[in-house]
Amino acid sequence: MDKSLIKILLVAIAINLVALCNGGITSPYVRGVDPSTDMPFNSDVFRPPKGYNAPQQVHITQGDHIGRSVIVSWVTPSEPGTNIIQYGKVHNKTEFEAHCNEVVTYKFYNYTSGFIHHCTIHNLQYNTRYFYQLGSGEVTRQFHFKTPPEVGPDAPYTFGVMGDLGQTYNSNETVEHYVSKGRGQAVLFAGDLSYADHYPFNDQRRWDTWGRFLERSTAYQSWIWAAGNHELDYIPEVLETTPFKPYTTRYHVPYEASGSTSPLWYSIKRASAYIIVLSSYSSFGKYTPQYNWLKQELPKANRSETPWLIVLLHSPWYNSYNYHYMEGETMRVMFEPWFVQNKVDIVFAGHVHGYERSERVSNIEYSIVNGKCTPVSNPSAPVYITIGDGGNIEGRANNFTEPQPDYSAYREASFGHAIFDIKNRTHAHFAWYRNLGKVADVGDSLWLHNRHWLPQ
Ligand SMILES: [Fe+2]
Repeated sequence: MDKSLIKILLVAIAINLVALCNGGITSPYVRGVDPSTDMPFNSDVFRPPKGYNAPQQVHITQGDHIGRSVIVSWVTPSEPGTNIIQYGKVHNKTEFEAHCNEVVTYKFYNYTSGFIHHCTIHNLQYNTRYFYQLGSGEVTRQFHFKTPPEVGPDAPYTFGVMGDLGQTYNSNETVEHYVSKGRGQAVLFAGDLSYADHYPFNDQRRWDTWGRFLERSTAYQSWIWAAGNHELDYIPEVLETTPFKPYTTRYHVPYEASGSTSPLWYSIKRASAYIIVLSSYSSFGKYTPQYNWLKQELPKANRSETPWLIVLLHSPWYNSYNYHYMEGETMRVMFEPWFVQNKVDIVFAGHVHGYERSERVSNIEYSIVNGKCTPVSNPSAPVYITIGDGGNIEGRANNFTEPQPDYSAYREASFGHAIFDIKNRTHAHFAWYRNLGKVADVGDSLWLHNRHWLPQ
């Protein structure tokens, strides 16, 4: 072979190598043991509390638009029992009572739920610890929570972030790491809760075990819920045709406070954050309720009051795994221009059982004739985080598209959780922790500059 041909070949190989290596980081970390099986019904984390009809599956979430109310939900297994919440600022001393009437049950195929209570405590003071007790007599149970600071541009706040949790040994590890770290003040949950639908006829007892499993966190801090596909619980063969029935019956959110007509999409303000929750599995085409709501909702985020604009949804828009590839594409096409116009800071999604962080990119220029269909760097675009790595029964996503696309900054097929730590109006720190046996190891982290206050 003559020398010039060898030279051409070498140059061609070098160009190809550059082309293959121009994406971000694909972490080579692979965990050895990976038992993605659900914990059995008799696991200690599922054990009901002692005593007849003791309140169980206790969970709280923000109950209004500004963080001065809390919705407390719980289940009594045998009879309705008391609806009263006793609460106050001093441990073991009851100052106030909230009286509520809402107790519901539901049937699903051959299952009948326990008595599901929802009770909103109103007019709480900001930044204050409250103790509350449920039940009566020997089966009284006590918990506590802290309200967020008053809504304001420099109110620091630390969110945990999780998705696709399920109830496996891996899920337990994720929750244990999050709780033991003790840093998160509320959780942003990106959908797919119990995975009860993994079982024949969507065995609803797995919703109950999940509620008891998570109580160690959900009874003490607000979890901000988004719905995933595993919340659909849709089985027409046995006439279960109301999508999201178990989820919306068990988990209430303050959707009416943001003018929404559905619990599947809503917004809240919490400290310095404006959080918008969307539903990947509800209509979002033009003129649909979700579309109309979001169109008028996004401009309501006053960045002088709540600088951090966060979106929580289930099916990711930027995903370079070979799992659920392009499933978020239709929603991206509909809403991405609005996200860029309104300078959303960060979008958390689940669905894909791994972790991925995008660069700030957009893909909104395309028309049927111009061919501009590649994501481009855009400082007004959010960072997209896929965090469907809670550890559910379906196992890890461990197969990537290759080469790694330019928009993908970091991806790793591990289970874990994240902490999103807002410091002030300009800076927030994000860190993703992979499960590593008894410890959680930082896999990826970065400082985020607020898109409104520090857009460079
Ligand atoms: Fe999902």
